[in-house]
Amino acid sequence: MKKYLYVFNYPRLEEGICLMEMRTLFEKDIIEKEIFSNKNIDVSDSVYINFKIEILHMDEKFENIVEKIKKEKIIMEEFKVEYYKIGNDETEYAERIKKTRSIGLEVQGEPNMKNPKTIYGIVKVKDIWILGIYKKNNFLWNSRVKKPMSYSNSLGVSLAKSVINLATCGDRNISIIDPCCGIGTILIEACKMNVNIEGYEINKKIYENAKINLKFYNCNVEITNGDMHEIAKKYDSSILDIPYGIFSHITKEEQQSLINKTREISKRLILISFEDLDYMIEKAEFKIIDRCEIPKGNFKRYIYTCM
Ligand SMILES: C[S@@+](CC[C@H](N)C(=O)[O-])C[C@H]1O[C@@H](n2cnc3c(N)ncnc32)[C@H](O)[C@@H]1O
Repeated sequence: MKKYLYVFNYPRLEEGICLMEMRTLFEKDIIEKEIFSNKNIDVSDSVYINFKIEILHMDEKFENIVEKIKKEKIIMEEFKVEYYKIGNDETEYAERIKKTRSIGLEVQGEPNMKNPKTIYGIVKVKDIWILGIYKKNNFLWNSRVKKPMSYSNSLGVSLAKSVINLATCGDRNISIIDPCCGIGTILIEACKMNVNIEGYEINKKIYENAKINLKFYNCNVEITNGDMHEIAKKYDSSILDIPYGIFSHITKEEQQSLINKTREISKRLILISFEDLDYMIEKAEFKIIDRCEIPKGNFKRYIYTCM
């Protein structure tokens, strides 16, 4: 029996990046929107995982789970039992309530319906009943969508969190460099996820705006005003949101040179681009190990994981 059940969802246009993130975090192909895994991921690290269940019992017969709970004589103060209907579970409301009560009656201690300290979750996945401890995504990233200093070339917060997950694979001990960090979207999200990250930004004004944003969100992240070609340190991963457009007049040769530099300073590269840059990645002697495209108006963003 796996330790955890994760339940995720995504807006249609974000299917590619969501599935790429899930493949990376759980190290397997994703077929369903429910993932069984032994990996303990903080659900709030991803914008797509709605909740997880730390599995206590799984059984084809719900009554068997009730029996097991009875035998365990669980004592829990301020608990609540909730039924979470997912996938193609068609269990009727009355039946769901009945099942919730039957578990609640076997837990010894005072329930707390408004502010429970522990939530027992019941779910049914493909005719298998699961009971476990429910952990919900706090979706706090939503509060960081509008920053004091904005920038037309900045990433959305949701995508920033996804690329961090692509860089870390869920391991918070990974060191990351965001060598073209703009106003610090990725730096702030990494800091909130307790991931070790540093930033570089060549433009003085944009760098100062990044400092303001970092301070506003209480993020103590090292950021340097300079050209990323000067970076001497080595990192596990680079996340390169490659400069483009009217604000950064950049040639193909310069873009190639930035990708080449990430090869020199990191083992893994997460590249974000508005163009297909396969040939540049190969030229830099990186191998593309996963990829997706995200539609954005008349354009699309290309996300690559390279090693
Ligand atoms: C696409 S923007 C990054 C936006 C950023 N991800 C954000 O969310 O704010 C690329 C940034 O790279 C910076 N840049 C361009 N060339 C650079 C270089 N050689 N070294 C460091 N930063 C550079 C640009 O000034 C620009 O702010």
